[in-house]
Amino acid sequence: MKNIFLPIQYIAYLFKARGAHGIHSPFVYELYHKVVKDKTEFYDFAPIEHLRERLHHSKEVIEVVDFGAVGNSKYNKKVKDIAKRSAIPAKEGRLLFRLVNFMQPRNMVEMGTSLGISTLYQHKACPEANMITMEGSPGTSSYAGVNFRIMKADSINRVVGDFKETLPEVIKSLPLIDYVFFDGNHRKEATMEYFHKFLPLVSDRCVFVFDDIRWSTDMYEAWKEIIEESSATVTVDLFSFGLVFFNPTQVKQHFVLRY
Ligand SMILES: C[S@@+](CC[C@H](N)C(=O)[O-])C[C@H]1O[C@@H](n2cnc3c(N)ncnc32)[C@H](O)[C@@H]1O
Repeated sequence: MKNIFLPIQYIAYLFKARGAHGIHSPFVYELYHKVVKDKTEFYDFAPIEHLRERLHHSKEVIEVVDFGAVGNSKYNKKVKDIAKRSAIPAKEGRLLFRLVNFMQPRNMVEMGTSLGISTLYQHKACPEANMITMEGSPGTSSYAGVNFRIMKADSINRVVGDFKETLPEVIKSLPLIDYVFFDGNHRKEATMEYFHKFLPLVSDRCVFVFDDIRWSTDMYEAWKEIIEESSATVTVDLFSFGLVFFNPTQVKQHFVLRY
């Protein structure tokens, strides 16, 4: 995240963020202890971080499609640079692992595979779930596929292509959705479009995770709109992640939690 509003945003977040004492919802209290604050060193963490370390030292170069550029231009990029710039940090990967472990979803989708670091954290927490990870850059997705084989995670389904084309097919293939990680296109319009496309599929146990909700003022506006959605019940602001739960038995309430 690189924007000049971040330091101000962070101070505002720290003022609002609550620890365990301010949480009166039993569900959120449990989420806070088991997902946000838990320090367990799960068995799968070390191999994923070992893979990241190897990627950081890779000498390979792959062809990448840049979806931020006009005309989705292609260019060659060092694997180590992609790993350093795009992959989720270990602290956040671990949080995703604990969240998936806590929610035990059946159908999971990730928008934005890159080299597959976040995919692995989520998949390893619930390997029996149907995990679909979507990536527009074919070279990047293939490289992630190799990483999945190395990590014995062959059951992950990779979908390759621009979200514009692949998302309708993915949605059609799913009966219901229990988990979506939005980490592909951090623009308000696109984020809102993807959010609304998944909404009709959400199960009662579903959670949506939005990465980089403060990446830009535009993205923060999207997050503000998302928490107003009537079918979203509990929503949680963890500064860079935004979590949205849809359990209709829960009271609609927004939490800003210290992470
Ligand atoms: C931040 S990276 C994902 C990082 C990954 N989740 C991780 O933490 O390891 C975002 C990825 O989304 C892909 N992406 C961005 N816009 C896209 C689009 N419109 N269609 C398909 N893929 C897209 C990019 O190619 C990039 O690899």
